[in-house]
Amino acid sequence: MSPMAGRQLKEIFRAFQTRDELAFRRAAMEIIEEEQAKHHNALARDLHKLLVGGTPQVDVGATIVVPAPPKDREGEWDLGEVREPERLLDDLVLDKRLMTVLDTMIEEVRQWSALDSAGIPRRQRLLLQGPPGCGKTSAAEAVAAELGRPFLLVRLDAVVSSYLGETASNLRRILEYASQAPFVVLFDEFDSLGRSRDDASEHGEMKRVVTAFLQMTDNYRGPSLLLSATNHPGLLDEALWRRFDEVLTFATPTVHQIRQLLRLRLKRVPHSGIAIDTYASALKGLPHAAAEKLVLDARRHALLRGSPSVADDDMRSALPGVTGRPW
Ligand SMILES: Nc1ncnc2c1ncn2[C@@H]1O[C@H](COP(=O)(O)OP(=O)(O)O)[C@@H](O)[C@H]1O
Ligand SMILES: [Mg+2]
Repeated sequence: MSPMAGRQLKEIFRAFQTRDELAFRRAAMEIIEEEQAKHHNALARDLHKLLVGGTPQVDVGATIVVPAPPKDREGEWDLGEVREPERLLDDLVLDKRLMTVLDTMIEEVRQWSALDSAGIPRRQRLLLQGPPGCGKTSAAEAVAAELGRPFLLVRLDAVVSSYLGETASNLRRILEYASQAPFVVLFDEFDSLGRSRDDASEHGEMKRVVTAFLQMTDNYRGPSLLLSATNHPGLLDEALWRRFDEVLTFATPTVHQIRQLLRLRLKRVPHSGIAIDTYASALKGLPHAAAEKLVLDARRHALLRGSPSVADDDMRSALPGVTGRPW
């Protein structure tokens, strides 16, 4: 073997060991170019096809290009959605303890290779639980943004097929995809995996799918952070909780947190004379999403009456529509 090929092989092995996707691609491209230079055109073409996966690429921001997400077996719909994350943790109002846990997790992901070298297991599979509208999906996106990673949103209700074998194969396809680049993956609506059918025998089958999913993530050694979110923690079997490295609990906001969120959402909007405390109290017990909707509805109301600024009247008009609907 030529010394050149030896060096490239070492680089590619090292890149695998440190899960350095870019280094891997660099070394692989070098090998392809060299084969081309030797006029091994068919081999070069095959290697290139393998490297890009033969799939179209998605541009998720200025610096990162990843292959397009996998489709279901018939190739009809995407199993996940890749996004350039925009939301930051600063856009969220969370209790201090949860914020600290998220900050720690972010720092930990940055230090994965150091943890690997020290033989300390990574915390790579987290469960986010709590009522709807309290920031689980937003927090996952924010973690991706803070890490500068693309965000892969997998809506499990869409992945769950009426054929159970199909569901498992869809999940496997997503995890293989998440091995190709460092994503933050969110398996959203995680409980849809375990959602029971009327038929008792089907229920057993669905439980097997949840178990299969957890086994697949147990064995996952790729570069992505795997998050799962559920609005219905009660639907999950207790034994399943232990299978996650960490469980993060999201809760409905306190009146103080609602006030904070109203201020945050009004910060960049011209407004005057709004009795924030009144609205914070009126929204007591409702999720963050309700406070956000109140501000948006009030802004809409102001705009429609031709006012450049949001007034207390706009908030008052919007309130019944927010408190009067189910959350
Ligand atoms: N903790 C929070 N802080 C600020 N905004 C929030 C928070 N939780 C939810 N929201 C807002 O409510 C909407 C729904 O939130 P989402 O993250 O989808 O909630 P969940 O996934 O828990 O159902 C989003 O537009 C988001 O901006
Ligand atoms: Mg959600």
